[in-house]
Amino acid sequence: MAGIVLVGAQWGDEGKGKITDLIADDFDYVVRYQGGNNAGHTVIHGGRTLKLHLIPSGVLHDNKTCIIGNGVVFDPFVFLQEMEELQKGNLLQSNTRIYISERAHLIMPYHRSLDQAREAKTSGKKIGTTGRGIGPAYEDKAARTGIRVGDLYEENLFREMLRHNLEEKNFLLKNYYNEKPLDEEEIAAQYLDCAQKIKSYVADTSLILDHEIRQGKKILFEGAQGSHLDIDHGTYPYVTSSNTVSANASSGSGIGPNAITKVVGICKAYTTRVGEGPFPTELNDETGNHMQQVGQEFGATTGRKRRCGWLDMVLVRQAVRVSGIGALAITKLDVLTGLDKLKICVGYKYANDQFTHAAPASIRILSQCQPVYEEFDGWKEDILYARDMNELPVNARKYLRRLEELAEAKIVLVSVGAGREETIILEDPFINKLL
Ligand code: IMP
Repeated sequence: MAGIVLVGAQWGDEGKGKITDLIADDFDYVVRYQGGNNAGHTVIHGGRTLKLHLIPSGVLHDNKTCIIGNGVVFDPFVFLQEMEELQKGNLLQSNTRIYISERAHLIMPYHRSLDQAREAKTSGKKIGTTGRGIGPAYEDKAARTGIRVGDLYEENLFREMLRHNLEEKNFLLKNYYNEKPLDEEEIAAQYLDCAQKIKSYVADTSLILDHEIRQGKKILFEGAQGSHLDIDHGTYPYVTSSNTVSANASSGSGIGPNAITKVVGICKAYTTRVGEGPFPTELNDETGNHMQQVGQEFGATTGRKRRCGWLDMVLVRQAVRVSGIGALAITKLDVLTGLDKLKICVGYKYANDQFTHAAPASIRILSQCQPVYEEFDGWKEDILYARDMNELPVNARKYLRRLEELAEAKIVLVSVGAGREETIILEDPFINKLL
């Protein structure tokens, strides 16, 4: 039995889609366990670029079962749209199976409206959310007023829950946010109709996984967002509303933590962030522009330009700690090609020259932190064709070696380009060796 969790070690967008695509063949199951369609995995498959927000990117592979776990907040219309795109592009194999947990909470239209209205109202203090209703859906889950996928099949109950929710949400939308209230009947009709279209996918996914784990099947847990967007361990309040750390692979999919054998952290060779919030190593200069443009750093969901900066090992080390990362996959090393000098942040200085190796919990202090850098010489050679560490320029190797030392986690894979084959696999972490 092998359960591997892939988690982002930064603020999301580390390139998890490519890594999942690369290794999915070795697994029987691919599971999403948190977040919703705020995520965006760009996968280049068979020469086509595809963006998946909700369905695990393992869906493109032969003979896979994909699971949308109970920890996900689920927008059924986005699901149907993605299914349609997959079918249109002939990308679904006949032996692909997809299951949605009946316990996953639904994203409702009022979640989206509230998310967007709140962001519009709190100018100067906004989070910079994706506007997909993720936060309000998780709020209702915690408030115990959420509607779950399984509730769609008990029409009376569903209508009653919807009415109860709308009473409060419409009051807020109308009286506090000055927005149009939403129509109960319209929403009920849309969701009940959609319920029939997704019915064949809805299941008790915890039972399915448990059964398969007992059969020795291999499971890949595909994390969304990144460690520092975690609601507990991230740069709160500039975070998403779920636990993005590896532990949630267990509760978000209804299996015990002993089903997880290894956690692989995905780490970009530099740092990016979408949305608001402190970013100590951010670069608002030519180098930042280089990263943004060469790395094509645009949010996969919202199309916003990602903020870019030097690799921040304070953040990566923390991700290694809170997620128990045992192996690292480094992505987008090629984006750094051509820069004369490179920097890695090894700690922060704050108030009166105090030094810290760990990210402070206080957002006020984090905002004042000044990065302490180590500097490296860059390289000019094209590294796109490197398939072995020895084919990398010596300066690239030095950079990676220092990264590995600071992370205290082994680098097992280096991505040197967007395509599948543009990858150096140092050791195959996903099958026998690390299990
Ligand atoms: P929300 O998840 O839409 O509530 O947005 C909260 C914060 O998380 C915002 O800063 C978003 O830009 C960020 N965020 C959410 N999902 C992703 C992602 O998949 N990649 C990068 N940032 C994300």
